[in-house]
Amino acid sequence: MKLIELQIINKEYKLGQTQVYALKDVSLSFDKGEFTAVWGPSGSGKTTLLNMIGTIDEPCSGTILINGKDVSKMSDNQKSDYRNNQIGFIFQNFNLIPVLSAVENVMLPLQIRNVKTTIAKEKSMERLKQVGLEHLANNRPDKMSGGQRQRVAIARALVTDPEVVIADEPTANLDLATSINIIEIMQELNKKDQATFLFSTHDQRLLDRMNRRVKLEDGHVV
Ligand SMILES: Nc1ncnc2c1ncn2[C@@H]1O[C@H](COP(=O)(O)OP(=O)(O)OP(=O)(O)O)[C@@H](O)[C@H]1O
Ligand SMILES: [Mg+2]
Repeated sequence: MKLIELQIINKEYKLGQTQVYALKDVSLSFDKGEFTAVWGPSGSGKTTLLNMIGTIDEPCSGTILINGKDVSKMSDNQKSDYRNNQIGFIFQNFNLIPVLSAVENVMLPLQIRNVKTTIAKEKSMERLKQVGLEHLANNRPDKMSGGQRQRVAIARALVTDPEVVIADEPTANLDLATSINIIEIMQELNKKDQATFLFSTHDQRLLDRMNRRVKLEDGHVV
């Protein structure tokens, strides 16, 4: 069984008289532990696709199966359970809390789950170490570079040991060398944790490093 399966997914928006197809007949599946780059130009449907897999957005037609379970038949509680416990999100703008230190930012998802502070801190320090930022654990995000902030965001996404990591353009605000470093860290953690990674980019220069690429163009897989 595939971990994630999309069957003939369509998503369209009505803008006045015209229809915009964000996704058109998209069928894809992802195995456990797979590392996939979703790439394509601006407006090709990358965010829409990732949001469907994250159950943030719903298709107009088609079926999404997660661990064989039809998402459209899940209750709101089951969906938010899946989102909270099985998915780690990494965003383009890092979304760190400015008044918290790096380690406090990483600890947050655990504290929301009522994990004891000492354990949350220990786990968070371990993740910061994995992204090479142990020494900056007590710094606030505004004392860090973009690449360092994104590494904190990766540590935060992984601290709950998710089954799926969704990263929507995690390198969009970074220079090429830093972007490559971020991809390498994600690949290392993908190997180590066996989590399924999906990341989107419009930067073709990052694609040589990918085992699997899905190219979108105007909502189609090409
Ligand atoms: N809420 C919405 N209402 C109308 N159209 C939308 C909406 N959200 C997305 N779209 C349209 O759907 C298409 C796909 O958008 P999407 O955000 O998935 O693209 P993307 O590949 O992530 O682009 P980018 O690289 O700029 O982030 C675009 O044509 C977009 O304008
Ligand atoms: Mg997008």
